[in-house]
Amino acid sequence: MTVTIDPDASFLDSALADLATYTDDSFDGWTREVLSDPYRASREVVANRMRQAGMEVHIDAGGNVVGRLPGRAAASGVNLKPLMTGSHTDTVRNGGRFDGIVGVLGAIEAVEALRRAGIELERDLVVVDFLGEEPNEFGISCMGSRSMAGVLTPEHLELPGTSGITLGKALERYGVDPNRALKNSWGPDSVHAYIELHIEQGPMLERAGTQIGVVTAIAGIDRLLARFTGRADHAGATPMDARQDALTCAAAAVLAVEREGCGAPVHGVATTGRIEAFPGSFNVVPQEARIYAELRSTDAAWLNGAKRRVADEIAAEAERRGVAQMVEWLTDQDPVPTTPALRDHIAAASGDLGLSWMAVPSGAGHDAAHMVHMGPMGMIFIPSVGGRSHCPEEFTDTRDIVEGVRVLAATLVRLDRTDKIAA
Ligand code: GLV
Ligand code: MN
Ligand code: MN
Repeated sequence: MTVTIDPDASFLDSALADLATYTDDSFDGWTREVLSDPYRASREVVANRMRQAGMEVHIDAGGNVVGRLPGRAAASGVNLKPLMTGSHTDTVRNGGRFDGIVGVLGAIEAVEALRRAGIELERDLVVVDFLGEEPNEFGISCMGSRSMAGVLTPEHLELPGTSGITLGKALERYGVDPNRALKNSWGPDSVHAYIELHIEQGPMLERAGTQIGVVTAIAGIDRLLARFTGRADHAGATPMDARQDALTCAAAAVLAVEREGCGAPVHGVATTGRIEAFPGSFNVVPQEARIYAELRSTDAAWLNGAKRRVADEIAAEAERRGVAQMVEWLTDQDPVPTTPALRDHIAAASGDLGLSWMAVPSGAGHDAAHMVHMGPMGMIFIPSVGGRSHCPEEFTDTRDIVEGVRVLAATLVRLDRTDKIAA
């Protein structure tokens, strides 16, 4: 007998709309930044939805909302490694309603859909709403998944934020004990598999008219802060050839970053997200400037080369302009391939359901990149309309979310029935 797993479109619609009401109204679009009041309130809603779906829920030492659906094996005293799925519910400032949220609410609906289909898993299924996946004022992303994976470090806790306190202090004020967050590791080989459902956030699936993306790898990210120190002078009286303009030097660096992205042979992108100049007056040649930029690729060799080339170009241009410069690399995250056996399972589940699928790289970062420390890891993408994300226009059709949840649930069933997943 074929069992049909039927995710409920109206639940997904109303749960997404409900979570979207938890937003900081002082910004456009949807803004639910980690550690903010709307974020704290919204996670109560997530925890309650997990409970309604029959999960035991707790907040772990890393501030993650963790729901556990006990499997059949546990009831008969057999200890099996759990399956895990999840994502995040924080947003970027002026962001959208789907990035991360689909993976959390979709996982909860997968649990409901399995129950309605009469399918009980042998293994426990753990659903996680990870704390703060998006980069924050402390320059760190994926705080909760890092904590669970054991890669949150004391150095991270010392990172200063723009509001003048360290990450450790901010976590403490939010109610997460930073010292416990450092000791939250599940350890290697602790989960049978981790699967994350996420919107693509780019245009590839839509362009190809394909329903499901089987993620091949999550891009590595190198973030840099470049500081330029020139000389303040009168903007009217100082000849153009007698200036040490920190801002034009920073502008040249912005273009050097862009050139690297444009020259990437396979998958590579480069972005400057912020530029600052001081003293910031019309009539003063800028004395200080800073840029905040990042390079991303699934190709580690390109990423390493690009990192070196950008630093060299910045140094050479600064020297030419008589400006002092300092490049600081803030974070580096290597590219993380997904586990080949899990790609096969996701592709097979999609095929069984009659859905079109294709292999895609992820240019975006994800909690999944850290979950790889705990066991096999895979990701399912669904289309983003117009490829838009990290903006209010971010949108994914409910029909696509339903199919994504169906693939997630079917993949979990397949994995539950697979004894050993090849690394
Ligand atoms: C997270 O969304 C990232 O890719 O920056
Ligand atoms: Mn995001
Ligand atoms: Mn995300």
